Amino acid sequence: MSEKPRRVRKAVLPAAGLGTRFLPATKAQPKEMLPVVDKPLIQYVVEECVASGIDNIIIVTGRGKNAIEDHFDSSPELEHFLQSKGKCELAKLVHDIGNMVTFSYTRQKEPLGLGHAVLVAKELVGNEPFAVLLGDVIIPGPRPATQQLVEIYESTGKGAIAVEEVPRAKTGLYGIVDVEPSNPSSANSRLLKIRDLVEKPNPADAPSNLAVTGRYLLPPEVFDCLERTKPGRGGEIQLTDALRLLAQESGLYAYNYEGKSYDAGDKLGFLKATVEIGLENKEFGNEFREYLRELKV
Ligand code: UTP
Repeated sequence: MSEKPRRVRKAVLPAAGLGTRFLPATKAQPKEMLPVVDKPLIQYVVEECVASGIDNIIIVTGRGKNAIEDHFDSSPELEHFLQSKGKCELAKLVHDIGNMVTFSYTRQKEPLGLGHAVLVAKELVGNEPFAVLLGDVIIPGPRPATQQLVEIYESTGKGAIAVEEVPRAKTGLYGIVDVEPSNPSSANSRLLKIRDLVEKPNPADAPSNLAVTGRYLLPPEVFDCLERTKPGRGGEIQLTDALRLLAQESGLYAYNYEGKSYDAGDKLGFLKATVEIGLENKEFGNEFREYLRELKV
């Protein structure tokens, strides 16, 4: 029997949701295109893939999401215009956006849930492991969460999902994992074995305070689990439900990754990301810090 491929080359970026939490900004533009400082959310996500060694990105789009394809397409007129004005650095920046990796697009005709969005990428992924990165969650920092998951998959051959600690009182806002140590003698206490996943539990019923954060590394068997998953909460095909099956049948790790995520599809999360990434900006971060101090809020 041939070994399953361990090298992770592909990522699926679901970006077909309606973004209702960010209305009215998302009425006529995709939430994944909202800029944090100077880049649209989805570009942060693509850059995380590139920094994690992934070279084939599949974006799941839907109605009204053409701006995403346009953003990663080539722009010869704009490049030419910038060059003619002597703005060569900007011209290079524009050129590089579409040339980071290979992009493919597939369409989710109706937003039937995150699990369904991943399932529509089945043919493009094929029979190999792949990462899933939510198009509206950004995780800045030197060591990408996806890279941490890739390392786990490549060394264990099993799927892994990124989790992070949240206040117990807030478990009702997240998918929460029920876990046990992966190997009691292992030096890596961040790696945990998933017993089960629970969607948005009350704090009293939550099996832990480890929340699923929007980065997944999945084996191709997850497609079979998705195909057997019936619509759940809100009539949507939930990725969480398919992951429960995957955990039971093939095993699945949770990884308490090093880093911090921002759910920028939520207004407050978006503001936090903007402030914190703005403070890190080389050009104006210090001035921005001074400005915030002066506000004395
Ligand atoms: P969210 O639940 O944050 O997206 O899904 P949403 O449904 O657009 O948001 P709200 O709650 O209405 O504001 C996380 C990611 O999964 C994608 C979204 O585009 C987002 O990037 N998604 C969600 C899909 O691609 N298809 C879906 O059917 C649902």
